[in-house]
Amino acid sequence: MRSSGISVIVVVRHLAWLVLILCSWPRVAAAQAQQAPKTDPVEAAALNTILGRWGKKASWEWNISGELCSGFASTEIDWDYYPTINPFIKCDCSFSNNTLCHITKLALASNSLSGQLPKELGNPTNLLSLGINLNNFTGVLPEELGNMTKLQQLRASDNGFIGKIPHYFGSMTNLEDIMSFSGFEGNSFEGPIPENLSNLTRLENLILRNCKISGDLRALDFSKFRTLISLFIGTIYVRMHDTKSSSHRAMYVKNNNQRSSIAQIF
Ligand SMILES: *[C@@H]1O[C@H](CO)[C@@H](O)[C@H](O)[C@H]1NC(C)=O
Ligand SMILES: *[C@@H]1O[C@H](CO)[C@@H](O)[C@H](O)[C@H]1NC(C)=O
Ligand SMILES: *[C@@H]1O[C@H](CO)[C@@H](O)[C@H](O)[C@H]1NC(C)=O
Ligand SMILES: *[C@@H]1O[C@H](CO)[C@@H](O)[C@H](O)[C@H]1NC(C)=O
Ligand SMILES: *[C@@H]1O[C@H](CO)[C@@H](O)[C@H](O)[C@H]1NC(C)=O
Ligand SMILES: *[C@@H]1O[C@H](CO)[C@@H](O)[C@H](O)[C@H]1NC(C)=O
Repeated sequence: MRSSGISVIVVVRHLAWLVLILCSWPRVAAAQAQQAPKTDPVEAAALNTILGRWGKKASWEWNISGELCSGFASTEIDWDYYPTINPFIKCDCSFSNNTLCHITKLALASNSLSGQLPKELGNPTNLLSLGINLNNFTGVLPEELGNMTKLQQLRASDNGFIGKIPHYFGSMTNLEDIMSFSGFEGNSFEGPIPENLSNLTRLENLILRNCKISGDLRALDFSKFRTLISLFIGTIYVRMHDTKSSSHRAMYVKNNNQRSSIAQIF
């Protein structure tokens, strides 16, 4: 009798807990929904598709409960502090009154990825930084990459890209850094540098070494490159100026694939 009385009390207590949990759950969930911002659904779908196709998964540090912009991806700390998380993203979750996150950085370097760059890569249009270097990508750069009009940094070295450097880069006017379109293992970009690349007036580094770039560099209006610090074309590294404030006056560029190998730019 006694022991069953105790069990009844225990059961009632458990039931009370259960009722309490059930009743407060919608409120807890609502509060959490308010606290935890959501990843832009178009961007989330694109990233899950791309990484899924490559058989790549987020590590435990991000994509918590299926929310890409969570954990270390949504902290304010820069991704340089997490060099071992790969692949990795960083997000800006300050949109729509801190309820919406856009993916701003995508790190995919050194992941043994191959094949063509997927078109879906153009969907995270809020990307500021894209690192696809040190992979085995081939083919041409897809048109959709031109959708990333906010892109500031592009790292695409050490792959097997071919074709011309797309002219749409001329409209990606926020680019500061095109780190090695080519690389030591050699991308095979060829043809002239598109002349409207001189639209990239914020460019600080333009590195095109080991490419098959040809054509007259004088097509580029170098006077527009107010912030260019370093320029690598062919095998010659040209340091434009040491500080961003001083202006450059003269520059000679040797381009590997040109017959007249030295072009006077100014
Ligand atoms: C994120 O988590 C969801 C749910 O577990 C999963 O479907 C998705 O593939 C994950 N995305 C990545 C990039 O790991
Ligand atoms: C933004 O969120 C805060 C806190 O959740 C709220 O007080 C405020 O009214 C919201 N503003 C808008 C414009 O929704
Ligand atoms: C690229 O592919 C080649 C041949 O398929 C392979 O030998 C090499 O290890 C790959 N490199 C990377 C970085 O995955
Ligand atoms: C992305 O680029 C493709 C090809 O240039 C274009 O058809 C598409 O409309 C673009 N999408 C967005 C969202 O800008
Ligand atoms: C760049 O120039 C090409 C032709 O050389 C043109 O088709 C393209 O629209 C231009 N793009 C921009 C952004 O000016
Ligand atoms: C881009 O460059 C082209 C060719 O140099 C020029 O005609 C065009 O006006 C530039 N566009 C912008 C937005 O500066």
